[in-house]
This record gives sequence, C-alpha cells and structure tokens, in this order.
Amino acid sequence: TPLLIHEIDATRQWVRERQRAGETVGVVPTMGALHAGHLSLAEAATKGCDRVIATVFVNPTQFAPSEDFERYPRDLEADAKKLGDVGVDAVFAPSVEAMYPPGATTSIDVGSVARPFEGAIRPTHFAGVATVVAKLLLIAPADRAYFGQKDYQQTVVVRRMVADLNLPIEVVVCPTVREADGIAMSSRNAYLSADERQRALCLSQGLREAERLHAAGERDASKLREAARRAIASTEGVELQYVAVLRDGTMDEVETVDAPAVIAVAARVGQTRLIDNVRLA
Ligand code: PAJ
Repeated sequence: TPLLIHEIDATRQWVRERQRAGETVGVVPTMGALHAGHLSLAEAATKGCDRVIATVFVNPTQFAPSEDFERYPRDLEADAKKLGDVGVDAVFAPSVEAMYPPGATTSIDVGSVARPFEGAIRPTHFAGVATVVAKLLLIAPADRAYFGQKDYQQTVVVRRMVADLNLPIEVVVCPTVREADGIAMSSRNAYLSADERQRALCLSQGLREAERLHAAGERDASKLREAARRAIASTEGVELQYVAVLRDGTMDEVETVDAPAVIAVAARVGQTRLIDNVRLA
C-alpha cells in the first residue's frame, strides 16, 4: 500500500526529498472513486517517473451548489489500494479544511479558454479546477503532472494556467480509457440506471461516426458535427448540450479540419451530465 499523507507540509517534503535523492516525481491529481481511466494515468506516471504521488480530493470549489459534491462517491481505502497495485508510492488526501482554511479567497481565472462549452454551462467550474490544480502542483511540486484527454477542456485550461503562471512542471495528457462498448469511463457513470447506461452509448457512437467520416476524408466540420449530433439527438432521454470541432490543443472552433482537431460533445442523460471527445488527427 502507498504512503498515505494528509498534511500539506509533509507532502511537499516527501516530493522534495525524492527529488533531492535524484529521482523524478510524477503527480496524478484525482477526485477518487478511481476506475481504469484514472489508473491509466497512474500507470503512465510510474512508467515516466521514478516516483509517483496521486492526490485524492473531492474539490468543493469546482462544484456548483446544484451539483453532486455531497453525493460524489468517496472510498479512500479502496482508492489507495488500487493506486498501490499499479505502483503509486504516495497518496495525498487532504481535508477540505486544510485546502481551504477559513479566510481563503484567492481564485485563478484562466480567461478565454475557460469560458465557452463546459465553462458556459458550469460558469464557476474552471476557476475551481484551476485554483485547486495550482495548489496541488505547489503542494506536490513534481516534475510531471498527468491528466486525461477525457476532460479535454480541462487539459486546455490546465496547460494555459501552467504556461501563464510559469509553473515548473510538464503537463502530460493520456488517452481516454473506454469500456468494452465504447463509453468513456467516468465516476459519474455510476449515477446511470441500466436503461440510461444503454442510452449513454450514443455519445461515443456519435463521436465514432464522426471519426469514421473524418478517416474517410470528410473535412467539413459541420458535416462531422452533424453526424455526431444525429446519433445523440435521435436517442430518446438524451439531451445534447453541445457538439464542437476544435483545433487540437485549443478551444477554437474550426470550419475545416485541415490540421489535428478534437470533436467534443456534452449531453444530459436523465439527471446525469456526460462529456466525451475524440481526436481527429
Ligand atoms: P477526476 O474526474 O477524478 O479525474 C482525474 C483525472 O482522470 C483527470 O485528469 C481526468 O481527465 C482523468 N480521467 C477521468 N476519466 C478518464 C478516462 N476515462 N480516461 C482517461 N483519463 C480519465 O478531473 C478531475 O478529477 C478534477 O477536475 C481534478 C483535475 C482532480 C481537479 O480537482
């Protein structure tokens, strides 16, 4: 089992000591309820770094009052065991009070990349993400930090923040891990009923259809969007929120896919919001 650390100072010390010993350190920020998607980041980190620390913290500031902060699944013991099994050395699991003591008010506004799409639907979300990720990268000042492609806009926001604040860390983005039927793994899939789980397949199916068209030479973004839209909008009980074709690494919409791009979707399946994307390269 990995070393479990709850304190901020002890975490920074652990990372610094490893680095003083000449080892490289990777950090994997998570909110726990770990699945194979999270663990793929941890595995990439153990391959790319001498030591790995994962963080497990359900960050209240990235949830709106109406969202699922309270009922977000929590099981630190199971998470620590899973992380240990893939070779993670330490787990930082702070309390909310340690991360946000009374009086804390600083918040990081990353600007334009945080505004559209997820930011338009969840206006306070990325300030919460950017602030907690900055704090985690300062508390665990590792050499590399690992994030998943699944949350594409989050990777754009984090890269922008790391560049703009000159944080001395390399951001690594790992591919989306999917279930056998194609649905992107997500802690929120646990909220879906069996029926909703079946309907939710239309997101990955719509993206796969767009991917297929792109591979067959379609470069008109509106055609690719329409293919994804059709698959999702034709599924009963699923409400499409957006479908966008973006220049890879940015939140800029493109009309012609003449360079690597990402097609991203968001939809509500019953009460559950799901997001997914694929790269078109
Ligand atoms: P969480 O949703 O727990 O995800 C932690 C990391 O796992 C993120 O980088 C996310 O993109 C990645 N991930 C989730 N599902 C994945 C999948 N199916 N395949 C590959 N990677 C996947 O994202 C967060 O937590 C938080 O916003 C956080 C960055 C920890 C800040 O609180």
